[in-house]
Amino acid sequence: MLKSDKQQVHDFWNEAACGENLYLQKIDSEGYRAQEAERYRLEPFILPFADFSSTRSKKVLEIGVGLGADHQRFAEAGADLYGIDLTERAVEHTRRRLGLFGLSSKLSVGDAENLEFPSCFFDNVYSWGVLHHSPDTPKAIAEVYRVLKKGGTAKIMIYHKYSMVGLMLWLRYALLKGRPWRSLRGVYAQHLESPGTKAYSRAEAKRLLLQFSDVKISTPQSPCSPRSRGQKEYPHRPSLPKPC
Ligand SMILES: C[S@@+](CC[C@H](N)C(=O)[O-])C[C@H]1O[C@@H](n2cnc3c(N)ncnc32)[C@H](O)[C@@H]1O
Repeated sequence: MLKSDKQQVHDFWNEAACGENLYLQKIDSEGYRAQEAERYRLEPFILPFADFSSTRSKKVLEIGVGLGADHQRFAEAGADLYGIDLTERAVEHTRRRLGLFGLSSKLSVGDAENLEFPSCFFDNVYSWGVLHHSPDTPKAIAEVYRVLKKGGTAKIMIYHKYSMVGLMLWLRYALLKGRPWRSLRGVYAQHLESPGTKAYSRAEAKRLLLQFSDVKISTPQSPCSPRSRGQKEYPHRPSLPKPC
């Protein structure tokens, strides 16, 4: 029997969470601390983007917690915190991690495309490197909008289509394979992390975010290589206050 697209995404990330094989040497507090240090060394722009300290006492949802480094920062900042991931593995890691540091969050396995939260519930929704992996990204974005309170903010990182990583992937899997007609879209879907990964131009990202007001998009360059599992390519990072 063929697996559904979402099941394939689930199975890919449930085998190893994002960065687990590369950066998590030990499953204890020291191991998680070391993974966190490496994450923010490689991707220092996460810190000003997430602005963890501004979420104290705010109702925050993180979608796609992965190994839980950002989630830990939200918990340390004193957010009223909720987190979901499609995989049991990511939720287990994040639960274990927070437990080791005496922190708490309302964690569950869940699907970005069908959030099990009421409408207008969160002050902030945060998601780093996740929604482009979900088969129906527009549905996931609509769900983010639905669960945000009036005046709430979404911070979302999705991959940027016209990037060094995209170029390298295309050179390797299209041009050097003698298939220069292969689309960038097809190359991302087959060769970047879980099956079906998408990447967006700035114009496409704007269209995805039409419901939101005051959309800000930036495209910082990643230091990461496209071949390494758990590393990422670069983002649109819209900050989206909700108008309703
Ligand atoms: C590239 S990892 C990013 C994890 C983490 N945010 C980070 O930056 O390390 C992608 C994560 O998105 C999760 N994911 C993919 N599709 C999802 C969906 N529909 N709902 C919730 N999580 C999803 C995967 O299970 C995986 O943990």
